[in-house]
Amino acid sequence: MAILCSKNTICRHLFRSKCLFLLVFIVSCSPPEDPIKCSSNKSTCTITNSYGMFPDRSVCKAANVSYPTSEQELISVVSMATIAKRKMKVATRFSHSIPKLVCPDGEDGLLISTKYLNKILRVDAQAMTITVESGVTLRQIIEGATKAALALPYTPYWWGLTIGGLMGTGAHGSTLFSNGSSVHDYVVELRIVSPGSAEDGYAKVRVLNETHQDLLAAKVSLGVLGVISQVTLKLQPLFKRSITYQMKGDLDLADEALRFGRQHEFADINWYPSQRKAIYRIDDRVSSNTSGNGLYDYTPFRSTLTATLAIIRTTEENQESTNDANGKCIGAMLVTSTLRNSAFGLTNNGILFTGYPVIGFQNRLQSSGTCLDSPQDKLITACSWDSRIKGEFFHQTTFTIGLSVVKNFIEDVQKLVALEPKSLCGLELYNGILMRYVKASSAYLGKQEDSIDFDISYYRSKDPMTPRLYEDILEEIEQMAVFKYGGLPHWGKNRNLVFEGVIKKYKNAGKFIKIKEKYDSLGLFSSEWTDQVLGLKGGVNIVKDGCALEGLCICSQDIHCAPSKGYLCRPGKIYPDARVCTRISSKRLI
Ligand SMILES: Cc1cc2nc3c(=O)[nH]c(=O)nc-3n(C[C@H](O)[C@H](O)[C@H](O)COP(=O)(O)OP(=O)(O)OC[C@H]3O[C@@H](n4cnc5c(N)ncnc54)[C@H](O)[C@@H]3O)c2cc1C
Ligand SMILES: *[C@@H]1O[C@H](CO)[C@@H](O)[C@H](O)[C@H]1NC(C)=O
Ligand SMILES: *[C@@H]1O[C@H](CO)[C@@H](O)[C@H](O)[C@H]1NC(C)=O
Ligand SMILES: *[C@@H]1O[C@H](CO)[C@@H](O)[C@H](O)[C@H]1NC(C)=O
Ligand SMILES: *[C@@H]1O[C@H](CO)[C@@H](O)[C@H](O)[C@H]1NC(C)=O
Ligand SMILES: *[C@@H]1O[C@H](CO)[C@@H](O)[C@H](O)[C@H]1NC(C)=O
Repeated sequence: MAILCSKNTICRHLFRSKCLFLLVFIVSCSPPEDPIKCSSNKSTCTITNSYGMFPDRSVCKAANVSYPTSEQELISVVSMATIAKRKMKVATRFSHSIPKLVCPDGEDGLLISTKYLNKILRVDAQAMTITVESGVTLRQIIEGATKAALALPYTPYWWGLTIGGLMGTGAHGSTLFSNGSSVHDYVVELRIVSPGSAEDGYAKVRVLNETHQDLLAAKVSLGVLGVISQVTLKLQPLFKRSITYQMKGDLDLADEALRFGRQHEFADINWYPSQRKAIYRIDDRVSSNTSGNGLYDYTPFRSTLTATLAIIRTTEENQESTNDANGKCIGAMLVTSTLRNSAFGLTNNGILFTGYPVIGFQNRLQSSGTCLDSPQDKLITACSWDSRIKGEFFHQTTFTIGLSVVKNFIEDVQKLVALEPKSLCGLELYNGILMRYVKASSAYLGKQEDSIDFDISYYRSKDPMTPRLYEDILEEIEQMAVFKYGGLPHWGKNRNLVFEGVIKKYKNAGKFIKIKEKYDSLGLFSSEWTDQVLGLKGGVNIVKDGCALEGLCICSQDIHCAPSKGYLCRPGKIYPDARVCTRISSKRLI
């Protein structure tokens, strides 16, 4: 977790903590690299995600990439590729999804980048809608809406996502109010270009609005129905919010989590299970005449000195290699208190944090991501996960659990912590478990019931064969979430194993597949990965030595773990159906 600060109290706090290495002065930032690279002779391109690493660490290839700048150009790109029966995939400027959603099959595929489909087309103040090309970022949408004194009410917290990409994976913010926190549930119309027949000129443009059933497939599509060209979103009059963070013990979290989400419109919870604490975000709409001009510039999404990131990573690597659980727990407390003391990047007026509540306009509080800004500075600073530097490198496990069973899930995690109190300090270094509220969606591949989303980041070794500290506990939580409690993994995050059999959890999966057949009968926009997660072709697991360490499989034999390093495949501690890589101390081996 990158800790940043500019001057004030946090730095003094850090000096006192003798952790000078965490002290950072922000100047500027090198923006992320383009995830698509083509060799100079243009006959091969590669694509990766914004972390520079897919779950299976493979590099995806494509024959070439096209950059349409208008719907007309997009249509001609799709029709030419359809005539040639080429595999296609939509790619975005940043490629933030972790799984291999953007890889076309084989090496002859075509990447269609939405990088230059980046224009806001119109804002209709009367109808309170905004219409944009699919490559615009959330940040652009927020800016465009604000100019007309309108707002998109619930959004992801990171503004570097494109509307096409975030819809493609069902991205969301946090609320149980209104139509919920998924952005796609505020889509009132979209235009999508799919392979067509000869009569269509080999590309078919469909305009889907709320009266059209197909919208329920297209609004969360994993990119397999064609290229979304334009999107119209329903907005609201711009409003103000009031935010207060409150820390409490986590003893009653299982009960509180349910109650809290119904009480506050923008509620979320940061849970630090090993510290046995939770920070509640008390966040509600207030009258627009309430004074305050607060700003949220979430600290971990700011540019960070790469030298600092390297030190943090080295510290983490050393803690891993020496099994220094205590070191991680001390670090976790420091990270949490630093973020908390800096109000996670909230300020009351854009400059200083002077106390809660922080009140301000929606557009200044809903999302952030200033590490995307700024001129090139030769990587003196960057986003903390930029793969060109030695920085954060992590797995992400993200799933939603239905409100009806989420209490039991939280209690199960607490039971694991009771057995192994230090086991989750590692994820607290990444600001703990972010719990957010999502509502059931009408989208066929959207959330099936009102739920809590759990977002967990944790250390990933640069060496795929090296196990992690308390590997078993996190694996048990991961398997418990999706198999014991029927959790739904976020389509744009996660490791392979959680997608096993996932499509069976979607009651309208059959309807989705029918639409896919209708829109792309040749499967030109499908790939091995999308066929696997949609249940059309084999499983998602890649079984080989050490596969469980990377979440490519659930271990069934010791060799799926790291037997030479003492990690063997064992049942879970409180969920016996789990199979996890457990470190067996040498004493117990004898
Ligand atoms: C720092 C960070 C913070 C994040 N915060 C959140 C959060 O708060 N909430 C949340 O839910 N998620 C969050 N995410 C995850 C994110 O929502 C997903 O990874 C999202 O899919 C990424 O969008 P993208 O624009 O990068 O799309 P990509 O990852 O490039 O694409 C995603 C999928 O959509 C398809 N696609 C893209 N554009 C189109 C189009 N025009 N037509 C058809 N298909 C298309 C692609 O082919 C691909 O299958 C975060 C990710 C990061 C890196
Ligand atoms: C193009 O470049 C790649 C590597 O950069 C090389 O392997 C390939 O042979 C080149 N192709 C041609 C046609 O020159
Ligand atoms: C893209 O790659 C395909 C397949 O290799 C090739 O047939 C086509 O000519 C290429 N197009 C361009 C514009 O380079
Ligand atoms: C919620 O969804 C319904 C049906 O799709 C729609 O009629 C309504 O306007 C939506 N409400 C909001 C606040 O967007
Ligand atoms: C929705 O689309 C249909 C045609 O598909 C059209 O007749 C109707 O007017 C549209 N409704 C709205 C609200 O735009
Ligand atoms: C603020 O707005 C509310 C209603 O929106 C109104 O009742 C109240 O009088 C206003 N207060 C001020 C100080 O203008």
